[in-house]
Amino acid sequence: MIRKQRKQQNRKQIIRRALLLCVLLALCVVMCACGGGNGSGSSSSAESEQSVTEADIEKANEEAKKLAEEISDHEINVLLGSKADIEELVQKKAKELLGTVKIKVSGDYDVNKVGKYDLKVTLEEKKGAKASETFTLSVIDRDQMEGDYSFITDKGFLAEVKEGIMTIDGTEIVNKSYSLPPEYGDGLTTETLEAYQKMEAQASIDGIYLQPISEYRSYYDQMYIHAQNAAKYGGEKADTFSAKPGHSEHQLGEAMDLNSLDQSFADTTEGQWISNHCAEYGFILRYPQGKTEETGYMSEPWHVRYVGEDLAKKLYNGGDWITVESYFGIDSEYRKAALEKEENEAEGSSDDGNEYYDESGNYDESEEYGYE
Ligand code: DAL
Ligand code: ZN
Repeated sequence: MIRKQRKQQNRKQIIRRALLLCVLLALCVVMCACGGGNGSGSSSSAESEQSVTEADIEKANEEAKKLAEEISDHEINVLLGSKADIEELVQKKAKELLGTVKIKVSGDYDVNKVGKYDLKVTLEEKKGAKASETFTLSVIDRDQMEGDYSFITDKGFLAEVKEGIMTIDGTEIVNKSYSLPPEYGDGLTTETLEAYQKMEAQASIDGIYLQPISEYRSYYDQMYIHAQNAAKYGGEKADTFSAKPGHSEHQLGEAMDLNSLDQSFADTTEGQWISNHCAEYGFILRYPQGKTEETGYMSEPWHVRYVGEDLAKKLYNGGDWITVESYFGIDSEYRKAALEKEENEAEGSSDDGNEYYDESGNYDESEEYGYE
């Protein structure tokens, strides 16, 4: 009786094992058919490649052509020594134009050598169809550029120089690298003035007294401020806090110096209020502490620049100010060739700044300028 029961149990076990084996075998068959499991990547891609139709290839070709055309229409120009990632730039352009596609840029170029380089962009469609087109990357030296030109900055922004004024994303850029023509400017812009008035009103409610001590300055105002500073401190030192003519944001009519030209202003209640609140009104602290390498100037807790609320809030960065240079991926450095060209242009300009000389032709020192 017991032996009979054992026999029945064994038979049941054999049947269960056989069934399990069958299930496992069936699973294997299904997995192989679906191309799943390790090592099956190539068979899957082979299959997807097989499903690439003529129409897919045609589409990829059209898209690659469109991308190459778009790039050469807008010219991929970069500056000599650029740190921009070219593949990333093209990828960004492809995304804007075509949505998500895979691209690869190939070919040789040297960002430290002026020239035009033919590169190839290969575009891969979702289904695997591939197509290539060529485009030109130009490495330009801004000192050799005549007239209007544009380039892509190290951070991928389109920088446009038109009639001698550099603009990125609607913001005019003035620093040691980018200047304004001598005749540019005629006072604070309306937007700057209105934003300042709003800021001043709120400051007053908060018990803070704001007082502008320098606003718009013409090219010639700046020429003599800088000359005076250079005479007093030496040219090299003067360049650490005083802009050469054409290179001051005050000429833009969007910059103001407030309350005090002393470094200790940063620690005063007014200085702190400006740093903490000016972005709410579209102003930035243009020369933050510890950012001389980027801006080219020592910190100026009194100098605010109007850029509009959106950009100002981004640069405010929770109180850890980001510089214009770092945000846009540009430099701020004087270059001899550019300065000589600017000086020649200024000499031919109508205003010679004679108001700074007295009747006997001596320089009038009655105007005292500080660290402006
Ligand atoms: N002090 C700033 C840099 C200017 O001269 O515009
Ligand atoms: Zn200033």
